[in-house]
Amino acid sequence: MEILILPTAAHAERLAARIVADRLKAKPDLVLGCATGRTMEGIYTELVRISKAEKLDYSAAHTFNLDEYVGLHPADPRSYHHYMEEKLFAHVNLPRDQTHLPNGVATDLTAEAASYERRIKAAGGIDLQLLGLGNTGHIGFNEPLSSLMSRTREKALTPQTREQNAGMFGGDATKVPPRALTMGVGTILEAKEVIMVVTGASKAQVLATATEGPITSMISATALQLHPRCHVLTDEAAAEKLTGREHYRWTFHNEPDWAQYQDLLA
Ligand code: GLP
Repeated sequence: MEILILPTAAHAERLAARIVADRLKAKPDLVLGCATGRTMEGIYTELVRISKAEKLDYSAAHTFNLDEYVGLHPADPRSYHHYMEEKLFAHVNLPRDQTHLPNGVATDLTAEAASYERRIKAAGGIDLQLLGLGNTGHIGFNEPLSSLMSRTREKALTPQTREQNAGMFGGDATKVPPRALTMGVGTILEAKEVIMVVTGASKAQVLATATEGPITSMISATALQLHPRCHVLTDEAAAEKLTGREHYRWTFHNEPDWAQYQDLLA
C-alpha cells in the first residue's frame, strides 16, 4: 500500500482523475471499477473535464460499479445507477451495454450476484478499481465482519452507514434501504490496481485505522494492506492521524512513479 498526501481534497481528486485518464489512454479497453459517494463526485467532474479536453475514447472500455441498493430501480434518482449516469456515463462515449452495476431489483439477488461475478471475469477482470472509504471502514458496502474473502452478495447496512448516506434520502436514515448488493472484499482484492480516495477531517480516524491498523474483518478496508498495487490518495485534513504522514508526504514528491504528476500541485 502506498499513501500519497496531497494538500487539499481538490488535489487528491485531480490526481485520481488523471490516473484514470492515463490508464484509459494506455489501455483503451480498460475495465474500470467505479465507486459512488460524495468523495467520488469531484473525481468524476474532473474526469469528464479531462475526457472532453483530451477527447478520451471510452468506446472499448467497460465499467463495473461496486454496489447498488436493494429495492431501488435503476431509474430511481437515489440509485447508484442514476448517480453514475448523471456524473459520468452521460458525458463520455461509453456504450451503455459496457457499463455494469448490480441490479438491486433482480428477483433473485443470489443469482444476480453470481452473474455479476461472471461478468467481471468475462471482461478480463478489473484493471483499476476506484474506492471511497465509509465511516464504518467499509469498502463497497462490506460492513464490519464482512469476510475478507467475500464475493458479490447481498449485505445488510449498519445504522452508521445509513446515517452517512441519508443525504440522498432527504436526510432521513430510515429511508435509506437497509440492504445492498456489493462486490465482496475478495472481489475487490482481485482488481489489478486499486485507488482509494479519502478526504476531509471526518475521515482522519477511520483512515488511520484502515491503513496503519491491524487487518481485521471489522474494517474491510484493512484488507487493502494485502493488495500488491494499492494507492491511497488523501488530503492533509484526512491525513492528520497518520503516524507515518511525514514519509507519505515525501512519497508523492520523490517517488519516480509520481514525478509526472507534480504539476497538479501548481
Ligand atoms: C457509500 C458507498 C461506498 C463509499 C462510501 C463513502 O457507502 N457504498 O462505496 O466509499 O459511501 O462515501 P462518501 O464519499 O460520501 O463519504
